[in-house]
Amino acid sequence: MNPSVEKILVSEEEIDRITTRIAAEIDRDYKGNDGRLILLCILKGSIVFMGDLMKKITIPVEIDCMKVSSYGSGTQTTGNVHIHLDLIRPDLPDCDLLIIEDIIDSGVTLSYLTKYLKNKGAKSVRTCTLLDKPSRRKVDFKPDYCGCEIPDEFVIGYGLDYDERFRALPYVGVLKPEVYSGE
Ligand code: PRP
Repeated sequence: MNPSVEKILVSEEEIDRITTRIAAEIDRDYKGNDGRLILLCILKGSIVFMGDLMKKITIPVEIDCMKVSSYGSGTQTTGNVHIHLDLIRPDLPDCDLLIIEDIIDSGVTLSYLTKYLKNKGAKSVRTCTLLDKPSRRKVDFKPDYCGCEIPDEFVIGYGLDYDERFRALPYVGVLKPEVYSGE
C-alpha cells in the first residue's frame, strides 16, 4: 500500500464489481435507444473510472470530454462553475449524454452541468459517479448511477488527487492527515 494512504476505502476488487454492475445497468437502460450514447468524461479525475467502465459496456458508445471547475463556498450554489473545455457537437440533439464523474461532493458541478447540457440541446442527460459523499451536499442532487456512497474523508487514488498526486493508485484510499497538514 502507498505510504501516504491511511486505509483502503474501495479496493481494486470492489471497483471491478462496481464497474461490472454499472456497465450492465447502462447496457440494460440504453439498449435499443435510437440516440447516440455519449460517455462524457469530466476531466481529470474521471479518466480511470471512465476507461474501465467503457470497456465493460457492450452496446455502442462514443466518448467525449469536458473540463470544469467549481468555485465558491458556503451557501453559493450554481453559476460558479467554470468551463475550461466545452462540449462542441453539432449533433447534440441526437445525443444521449451520460456524464461520468469520479466523485460528487457538494453536488454543484453535476447540478450545473446537467442543466447546462440540457439547455445546450442534448437529447437526454444522465449522470454516473463512482463515489458519492451525500453528507457534503449543498444542492439537492442525486446521480442516476452510483458506485458507492462514502463518508466525508479525504480520498485519493483511481483518478482522485491531492495536489495532482496519487491519481494512478489502483484503489480509492484515505489520505493520511499528516500528508496535507504537513505541507
Ligand atoms: C472534483 C470531481 C467533480 C467535482 C465534484 O473535481 O471530479 O468534478 O470535484 O465536486 P462538487 O460535487 O462539490 O461540485 P476537481 O475539481 O477536484 O477536479 P479534477 O477532477 O481535475 O481533480
